[in-house]
Amino acid sequence: MKIVHISDLHFGEELVRSKVEKAIKQINEIEPDLVVVTGDLSCWGIHSELREAYEALEKLKSDYFVVPGNHDARNNGIEFFELYFGERKKIYKDSEVVIIGVDSTQPDIDDGYIGFEQRRWIEENFRKDRINVLALHHHIVPIPDTGRERNVLIDAGEVVEMLINLGFALVLAGHRHMPYSIRLMRTHIIHAGSLGSFKILGMPDHNYNVIELSEDYVSLKLKFVDYGEIDVGRYQIKTEAPESVAIYRKVGRPKRVLFVSKDGDARVQMAEALFNKLSPYNMLAEGAGVDEVSEEDKVAREVLNEIGVEMIWRKKKIDERDLKNFDYVVEFDELGLGETWKIEVPKSREDYRRVREEIRRKVNELISQLIAM
Ligand SMILES: [Fe+2]
Ligand SMILES: [Fe+2]
Repeated sequence: MKIVHISDLHFGEELVRSKVEKAIKQINEIEPDLVVVTGDLSCWGIHSELREAYEALEKLKSDYFVVPGNHDARNNGIEFFELYFGERKKIYKDSEVVIIGVDSTQPDIDDGYIGFEQRRWIEENFRKDRINVLALHHHIVPIPDTGRERNVLIDAGEVVEMLINLGFALVLAGHRHMPYSIRLMRTHIIHAGSLGSFKILGMPDHNYNVIELSEDYVSLKLKFVDYGEIDVGRYQIKTEAPESVAIYRKVGRPKRVLFVSKDGDARVQMAEALFNKLSPYNMLAEGAGVDEVSEEDKVAREVLNEIGVEMIWRKKKIDERDLKNFDYVVEFDELGLGETWKIEVPKSREDYRRVREEIRRKVNELISQLIAM
């Protein structure tokens, strides 16, 4: 698939019209399968600016796909963006490629934001059997030499993690008026410079990207409107997600543990208290019974106090439906609910101390196991 990627046309006071008109003629000669426009069609979101941008893009012979930029979200620009360019988030699909375009703008604010809802929508539309491309206006990693770094996506961290986790092949973005590409693990992030604004950064001329996408490779050319073109590179596409991102997520996530016996006796009460004393704060244990639940066991409380552990027992009854709320279940009777710890109900005070030490040892083992789970 051949994609021409243009950005930051800035119809209005910043526009250098001759550059855009010339580029559109060139693009028609290139005959791409699709032109992707990553926002900032206007300067102030004014309807006349967006109308002029629309009339210019309508001269393209190929299909084009537009997402809004922060300048289009100024004033009531988004209403006119939708009038001329359709929905703010959209999808292009063929037999090999899915391009997911999102709205990274916020009304009258230059900072970018994708947000939880759109991130979920991206995940839903990601296709494992295609090459996946995300198109948006704002940059998700800082671009060097563009002055004070600003207007990165507020949720760039979440977006980067999602892209890498899912195995996106490409990101197309604009915004800083500086063409730039960088590979983040297996995702190639490609920025287009400005095609229309007089503010072209770090480059000799107005420019755009020509991208060839095949099953295994992406090749990138930087095309100047008046000074020829440069081969930037040819990169292998590998879309399987690396494990490292998932590992950090796994280690840090909250983990809930259930200790259960028939009646929530001393063993459950001690296990809950010991676990909550010894585990890190991303873990929490609850103790419960499945039948009549016991009152607080005073000897259990006393033998825990001897080692500086406070026991607070709140009677809790649990049934099988509640099990889905827990990441790990430990049982002391043969209930068939989780891992069984074979420890007898203590009777004498010495028994209680022995059981306490046995549970303490097993709880420490469980915590190490849960850290990596
Ligand atoms: Fe711009
Ligand atoms: Fe922008």
